[in-house]
Amino acid sequence: MIAYNKQNHTIKLDTPNTSYVLGVREGGFLLNLYYGRRLPDDNLWSLAKRLPSASFSPCDPEHTDFSADVAPMEYPTNGRGDFRAAALSVRNADGNTVTDLRYVSHRVIAGKPDLPGLPQLYVTDDAQCETLEVTLRDPYTGVEAVLVYTAFCDCDVIAKHVRLTNRGEQAVTLERALSSCLDLPSMGFDLITLWGRHTKERQFERRPLAHGLQGIRSKRGASSHSHNPFAALVQTGATETTGEVYGFNLVYSGNFVITAEVDHDATTRVVMGIDPEDFGWLLAPGESFATPEAVHVFSAEGLGGMSRVFHRCYDAHLIRGRWQTEKRPLLINSWEAAYFDFDTDKLISFAERAKELGIEMLVMDDGWFGKRNDDTNSLGDWFVNEKKLDLGRLIDSVHGMGLKFGIWYEPEMISPDSELYRTHPDWCVHVPGRAPSVARQQYVLDVSRPDVRENIFGQMRGVLGRYPIDYVKWDFNRNLSEAGSALLPADRSGEFFHRFVLGTYALQDRLIRGFPHLLLENCSGGGGRFDPGMLYYSPQIWTSDNTDPIDRLSIQFGTSLCYPASVMGAHVSASRRAGYRTKGDVALWGTFGYELDPNKLNGEEREIVKEQVAQYHKYYALIRSGSLYRLICPWNNDYVCAWSFVAEDKREALVTVVRMRRQDDTLFHLKLQGLDPDTIYTVEETGERYSGALLMFAGLEMTDSAWDDGESCKLHLIADGAAEPGVPA
Ligand code: DGJ
Repeated sequence: MIAYNKQNHTIKLDTPNTSYVLGVREGGFLLNLYYGRRLPDDNLWSLAKRLPSASFSPCDPEHTDFSADVAPMEYPTNGRGDFRAAALSVRNADGNTVTDLRYVSHRVIAGKPDLPGLPQLYVTDDAQCETLEVTLRDPYTGVEAVLVYTAFCDCDVIAKHVRLTNRGEQAVTLERALSSCLDLPSMGFDLITLWGRHTKERQFERRPLAHGLQGIRSKRGASSHSHNPFAALVQTGATETTGEVYGFNLVYSGNFVITAEVDHDATTRVVMGIDPEDFGWLLAPGESFATPEAVHVFSAEGLGGMSRVFHRCYDAHLIRGRWQTEKRPLLINSWEAAYFDFDTDKLISFAERAKELGIEMLVMDDGWFGKRNDDTNSLGDWFVNEKKLDLGRLIDSVHGMGLKFGIWYEPEMISPDSELYRTHPDWCVHVPGRAPSVARQQYVLDVSRPDVRENIFGQMRGVLGRYPIDYVKWDFNRNLSEAGSALLPADRSGEFFHRFVLGTYALQDRLIRGFPHLLLENCSGGGGRFDPGMLYYSPQIWTSDNTDPIDRLSIQFGTSLCYPASVMGAHVSASRRAGYRTKGDVALWGTFGYELDPNKLNGEEREIVKEQVAQYHKYYALIRSGSLYRLICPWNNDYVCAWSFVAEDKREALVTVVRMRRQDDTLFHLKLQGLDPDTIYTVEETGERYSGALLMFAGLEMTDSAWDDGESCKLHLIADGAAEPGVPA
């Protein structure tokens, strides 16, 4: 898997279908020789060739044939002649930021070492991966960088992070400490990213690379609605099914940057990590800092191939705990059903109706604590509003019906009108001399402080320890401004944003360790913190507050670029566009549930819901363990979307088609993917039989002028035999 060629001083990391090659050049410069389809160990140094140097490129004083300006640097530093985006910039005791790293040693270990305090991919058995640690050191400051790479045996994934330690005698400040860099010898790529906003998360955007800098970032203190910490570089002309694709995803929930830079030689550098703006980390002698982990995927099978690698990897190596494999309860959430307007009896009535429909859990959303009847108060006062609610009676009734019970929290927030704020005004995120800004009438709580975390966890334990609660929805409804902590000295103020994220991770970790039975679902005004960092703690995330099934298509298609179906919170609501069938078909892609007042459903709607509940159970295993194929994407047309889940053994598939807008008189053949061409499949709904070859290469005839805007259909394909050559199915 990871092989060192001593003679050539190259290190090759292999996954089943990819290779990643490093070379150590004379002078100790660590270069990236290759990343792509799997290669044998053959003439790898030929891949280091770049133009000798541009006319203004500075050369290393002791190796005048080498200029970092034109070399494929593996972990580029600032101020030493490489003028592209640096991965590392350290302000030293002299006050300058010239940073240099040279190879010292490397080692290969079985398995994957822990990355303390940070979310990360994991393995359950050391045989599932190998890890390479390459140690580099700055000869002048003594700053040491250990580049840590894990190559997985069961998926084409390489995870990277960097551990920085001050081995010198004077304090330094990390001003830029990114997780990863990749230098590619071409600019023949398009950059794909996922932009968005509240209620319109993860919209697909594709642009050709141009000379200079392009990319995305978040300065919001959360990974954000605006940009997901994901990017793909796709070979020009690559499609959903063809072409080479590099996928990048940062396992982090705070400020981040992903930049692609094309230089004068038409090479492309991709760097990713914590956004250096508003970042600084003081490293006293002996202290260490670990960057978040970055996930890299290469696929030669187009965007779809890349997504399926991410999905398999995250289901197996990111989602943890009992809910990784245990069937998730089908839930009904009170938010869109009642907002703040509920009491014990109303919620019991929801549970009674839900029970009749086959729903398995009632989630009580915002409004149960302090004196909260609207969003102006009480965040931070995590005790039951007994004027409004008898929580013991509610949970007893719900459990008595055989349903599970869930509850909502927003632990990182504090309302100015709360007992907590009146007692501890200093606990909100703020800087001296400036009043903190409000958003949704709330401040942010400084969870970088251990005492604050202790208080919040203590309050949560008070409720979760007293009542038998099965599920927690963890919300986060504003971004950070005036970012500072009363506990941090001035020379550490740049550490605040990262410490805040570490505080959130520490709290979530404590919650799931303290209450291991809990199903935790993250949320941030919908999908404002939908990232692999959060998924390490919660196996599902509320995808968007937008539950309109047509709007959901572009949100769910975008989300699926790197996140599997098992994590995508998706509910049927009373939203007006499209009927209940379409709402159900779209929500079935995700965790599935309801977000409506079940008392308001009419007889016909109730029957549809019962059918949907039955289908949820019928297709659960196929959707969770099958492979996703995006057949027709919303970013390619305005009329129709289609996707399918195909079982691993290709014996079963579920195809869903949504007609967004009618296009009369247009022939429509839907070409399926991922089937076995030599197998005959029966369409359960019609009894028609087709070979996999016909379904994939010619397509299923679906022209039907009876389809109306917003309608959908599902087709369940079941393999019933091998296609015989020359014999019609
Ligand atoms: C935002 C979430 O996305 C909603 O689902 C709901 O929980 C509200 N917050 C409650 O305030």
